Amino acid sequence: MPAVAVTRGRLTGLHEIVDVGRDRARGGYSRHVWQPAEIELRAWFVERAERLGLGVEHDRNGNIWAWWGAPAGDAVVVGSHLDSVPGGGEYDGPLGVVSALDAIALLQSTGFTPGRPCAVVVFAEEEGSRFGVACLGSRLMTGAIDPERAGALTDADGVRFAEAAEANGIAARHLGRDDAALGRIGLFLELHVEQGRGLIELDSPVAVASSILAHGRWRIDIAGEANHAGATRMGDRRDPMVAAARGIVAVRDAAAARGDDRATVGRIRAVPGGTNVIPSAVTTWLDARSARDDDTRDLVAEITARVGAAAAAEGCSVTVVEESWSGAVHFDPVLRDGLAARLGGIPALPTGAGHDAGILAAHVPTAMLFVRNPSGVSHSPEEHATLDDAVAGVVALEHVLRGLL
Ligand code: GLV
Ligand code: MN
Ligand code: MN
Repeated sequence: MPAVAVTRGRLTGLHEIVDVGRDRARGGYSRHVWQPAEIELRAWFVERAERLGLGVEHDRNGNIWAWWGAPAGDAVVVGSHLDSVPGGGEYDGPLGVVSALDAIALLQSTGFTPGRPCAVVVFAEEEGSRFGVACLGSRLMTGAIDPERAGALTDADGVRFAEAAEANGIAARHLGRDDAALGRIGLFLELHVEQGRGLIELDSPVAVASSILAHGRWRIDIAGEANHAGATRMGDRRDPMVAAARGIVAVRDAAAARGDDRATVGRIRAVPGGTNVIPSAVTTWLDARSARDDDTRDLVAEITARVGAAAAAEGCSVTVVEESWSGAVHFDPVLRDGLAARLGGIPALPTGAGHDAGILAAHVPTAMLFVRNPSGVSHSPEEHATLDDAVAGVVALEHVLRGLL
């Protein structure tokens, strides 16, 4: 680690936003794109970037850029996201944004002036918690999602992404691949709280990322027959909730039987949703992940077959729709090893979590730094980083930037 004096007071950003988007009902934070808490965080980011003398730009896809010096090509871009999952932790996303700003503040405090363009970016809708597709801002920018399709995605209230964008100053007709923004990125670096136990086990505050699991999201619609909970004999039912329940167990069993694969149903919706009503339809959302693209596809095929059998046994029908897909990512090995060496030989760590860095990696040299999470838990209020480790992350980022700029 470099011998830069960082005082605890330097990691100021997280304290400034600690109360924004607290979710009293779920615990933790709910900061969904272009809802009041996330809008407040965007305003905070702009204000804090301007305090550092950075020039702020809003791109065509809802992402925010803060430039240290004039925007130009071959830039070193650092950043993450400010939105959260429902009831999420304090660090997933904001730690990367805050650390990027603090690393620049640290460089500025030593009189360093960059010899290469540099920007901090905040990507929109990384979690996909409001509109269903993760990393929407970076997918749109890189052309990884059709802008018509993205614009038509709806939230739980039926608001379309295009409408939410328009309401926040983004012209929906201009959504989509942004060659100007993408073309300026010479290298992308995302610092992120670790979301598992890797750094606890390695006993290290910081690591560099090696890979991301292939992953995606599938919507499973099971249709049955609505009927009366009291008047309908058990043998006369076509109950999609029972099919969904058996299907969810099959999801767990299929992944567990394949070694280190992961499959999750974290969301379920019953229609019409009355205690005394057998549902007419149940929708569950599947998140499936595996080390290789083919293995993830195989897992989903097995789950589809097993859910289909569970539905048929209840007299129900089922459709499975892929809502998003992210192939496995192996980060640029030269950049990864160069950063690890510059940071004194820190370890390299794979992750099961998706990131904007994973989307960017298909287009530009990309790397990630992870900061230890002593709970090993993420997407939960239990997610944590100690102040010492967060400061170690800022110092690492500052040291890396000093070398790259
Ligand atoms: C985002 O954090 C994801 O891995 O889904
Ligand atoms: Mn997340
Ligand atoms: Mn994240």
